[in-house]
Amino acid sequence: MVAVCAVALACAADADDAGDASPAEPAPTVTSDAPAPPTTAAALVVPDGAAVYQQYCAECHGVDLRGTDKGPSQLSIIYEPNHHGDYAYRVAIRDGTREHHWWFGDMPPVEGITDLEIEKVISYIRAEQERLGFEQ
Ligand code: HEC
Repeated sequence: MVAVCAVALACAADADDAGDASPAEPAPTVTSDAPAPPTTAAALVVPDGAAVYQQYCAECHGVDLRGTDKGPSQLSIIYEPNHHGDYAYRVAIRDGTREHHWWFGDMPPVEGITDLEIEKVISYIRAEQERLGFEQ
């Protein structure tokens, strides 16, 4: 019984409010013409590279980066930074790439991704390559 009312004081306060006949406070009205500040935290939050990867890359490169039947593993040794630097990533994401290392077909340009998301997803992939190690 006590557990249902985990915060006993809050429950008591609710009961008091219910019994209170005084009218509710009027909602504050905005009188300024200034643009409203962003209402969602998302407007201020830097994109999360892991989420960007899952949204734009996982379909072909695999949720675990290890590839699918549509694209190669991002842990292949050929994607280590000295062979495919960050510049190669930016170009591939923006412009796509012709089939040349594998037999999955071309990588199309990734539509709708922002510059900031590109930088974040590259950082994420680099961190995962370091954490998981390259496949030989
Ligand atoms: C529709 C499938 C698909 C999607 C989505 C996709 N890729 Fe690819 N990607 C490929 C294929 C296929 C290749 C291999 C091309 C080859 O070398 O034969 C490739 C190759 C690459 C390469 C190597 C480019 C080069 O110069 O050899 C990078 C880097 C890469 N992808 C990164 C990404 C990242 C990061 C994302 C997400 C932002 C992404 N890809 C999304 C299919 C995809």
